[in-house]
Amino acid sequence: MENNKSLKIILIVLIILTIIVFGGVTYLYLFDKEPNTQENKQSYSAKAVAAMEEYNILNTVNNREYSKTLEIILEEDLYNSDYLEEYYKINYSTIPNFPNYVAQLLYKNYTSTEINYCLANFKDNLDILLNMDYIDILQYKDITNFDITKLERYLKYQETNTDYDLKTVVTYVNIGLDKDGYSEYVSYTADEATDLTILVNKYHKLPDDYEPDDLVSLSYGSNYKLRKEAAEAFEKLTAAAVLEKVYFYPFSAYRSNETQRVLYNRYVARDGVATADTYSARPGFSEHQLGLAVDVRSSTLTDNLTNSHYEWMLNNSYKYGFIVRYPKGKQSITQFMEEPWHIRYLGVDLATKVHASGLTYDEYYDLYLETR
Ligand code: DAL
Ligand code: ZN
Repeated sequence: MENNKSLKIILIVLIILTIIVFGGVTYLYLFDKEPNTQENKQSYSAKAVAAMEEYNILNTVNNREYSKTLEIILEEDLYNSDYLEEYYKINYSTIPNFPNYVAQLLYKNYTSTEINYCLANFKDNLDILLNMDYIDILQYKDITNFDITKLERYLKYQETNTDYDLKTVVTYVNIGLDKDGYSEYVSYTADEATDLTILVNKYHKLPDDYEPDDLVSLSYGSNYKLRKEAAEAFEKLTAAAVLEKVYFYPFSAYRSNETQRVLYNRYVARDGVATADTYSARPGFSEHQLGLAVDVRSSTLTDNLTNSHYEWMLNNSYKYGFIVRYPKGKQSITQFMEEPWHIRYLGVDLATKVHASGLTYDEYYDLYLETR
């Protein structure tokens, strides 16, 4: 009997406790909303609240979550009733002039999604967008080498090259192809020039007095020099070729800036500037000055590789760190005619990647190596 009584008491206590806990939770759930609304109301500054009253949106705003963007827009007297919903969706940013950018971009018809994308990706270059008509900026979203500072050039290039897709437009403009070769170029320092992966073309120039300090002669003859690592790789390349009965030998390797000048001028005198520019680099713009390029010819022909030897070179040179730098059909990108004989050392890893990409080095460099 006694036991039964105790059990009953325990049960009653448990029931009471359950009611208290449940009741408490329910109370908090149901009635705690009010103080939150109060909080929202209070978290807007007095200036923002005054503006809300002026625009007659106090009630609407009070029933919604707090928005820092809306607050600052109101404070700066930039509020426009057309964009109330958009203010809520635009992520607040601490960049200078944030409210002005928001107001102007909205006015230009950019959506909150587009504005958030721009704020996240080019917050320092928003003026570019303000200085032009609305553009569909999200179409560049997945183009990794897109550079907003070149936006106007992309648009202009696209107008005259309507058959190119956007990705191609971006890469070609980044390379510089919307401008004539040699008209604008990057000037490297001597230090930069020593990088084995450096891109040299009509838009990237070496210092006039640059000369690598690790040139060594190729075993073929002391006239032909390359930087040590490239020279060793070239010996391996020729040895591997011989094993497959492919024979070639160098007929030009490192060329000083002065040698390049003499050569180029000779070609200009013979063929004129326009033609010479299709096959000879101007001094300072030749990979030969890097000590990383070799011209080879086949033993069976006087001035070229035979087709089969060229095929071998195309398919195998990367294994030894070389790429065929001016391939067929790529003249509009490399800005040089096809040169089956000109190979460039990049190191095995990079040459393998460039080979696998099927891209010219100019494109590959812009897509994967250019540091912006
Ligand atoms: N023939 C190549 C382009 C050079 O002159 O470097
Ligand atoms: Zn060459």
